[in-house]
Amino acid sequence: PVPLLLDCDTGVDDTLAILLAALHPDAELVGVGSVWGNVDVGTATRNSLHTVHMAGRPDVPVAQGAAGPLLGTPPVYAFHVHGDDGQGNAGTGRAVGTPVAESAAEQIVRLARSRPGEIELVAVGPLTNLALALGLCPELPRLVRGVTIMGGAALAPGNVTEVAEANIWCDPEAAAAVFRAPWPLTMVGLDVTMRTTLDEGHRARLAAGGSLGRYVARILDHYMGYFAAASFGERRSCMHDALAVAVACGALVPHLAPTVRAFVVTDGPARGQTVCDLRGRYMGYPAQDGAHCRVVLDSDPAYADVVVDLLVAAGDA
Ligand code: BDR
Ligand code: CA
Repeated sequence: PVPLLLDCDTGVDDTLAILLAALHPDAELVGVGSVWGNVDVGTATRNSLHTVHMAGRPDVPVAQGAAGPLLGTPPVYAFHVHGDDGQGNAGTGRAVGTPVAESAAEQIVRLARSRPGEIELVAVGPLTNLALALGLCPELPRLVRGVTIMGGAALAPGNVTEVAEANIWCDPEAAAAVFRAPWPLTMVGLDVTMRTTLDEGHRARLAAGGSLGRYVARILDHYMGYFAAASFGERRSCMHDALAVAVACGALVPHLAPTVRAFVVTDGPARGQTVCDLRGRYMGYPAQDGAHCRVVLDSDPAYADVVVDLLVAAGDA
């Protein structure tokens, strides 16, 4: 199994990502960091703790991270998407466990140093904690196996502005630092994650699948309502963050572009856009010097079934 250190702003789809990382045989979940984003960082931490406990993995350390963007500007949340509790207004309301004493950035550095070259960082929220970790430890890119993010949009519009996806738009300066650092970066962007969705059939199977499935079915209700109104015109929800986990541990082998140069726009109307130089893929340009970003171009829409099967099989974990 691939050791994964997951960094998330734990809303509804982040919860599925944690469950997948905790339960999939190809993944070894070594820690979770929480970050502001979908919800405030305290709520994200509470949801992450609840999720690792629910998955039967109370041993996984959960570290609280940044409460807002790198430059100190006020955080902007997405409670309308994920509910006031980040669990589709269907969470238990109970706090379980406590976060570890170190910050999420400190945890990243400590775990990376303890297993040099082994750990894949998987970031599925704003990239603030990763940027802070780079500040604490500039040699971090040499200490990890790589970084996989759910974020950006290589081939399609954004979901916050015309060109910016939420995780990047929330903290473009942090994202720019993560894209600049010389680690192998795999980008699972919005154009891919919008195409793998859970529908009411999946939700019904989850609801019939033990306490874990029932919980996920409950928290998906509000999330599906959001997508019905905002994008799809029917009750269906994106898998977003779980796909990044699946790609990171090799459970899902995606269709990749050749490794390319990529950067994040921090100024002007395109602030938050991820620019990926896909000329090699689409126009036959030769390989690029200094390229280190693997852009996922497609995944398997049927992967939703794999995740549902896993959660149903986990039953009452
Ligand atoms: C991303 O933003 C958040 O709302 C989701 O959890 C996902 O990480 C999608 O743009
Ligand atoms: Ca997220």
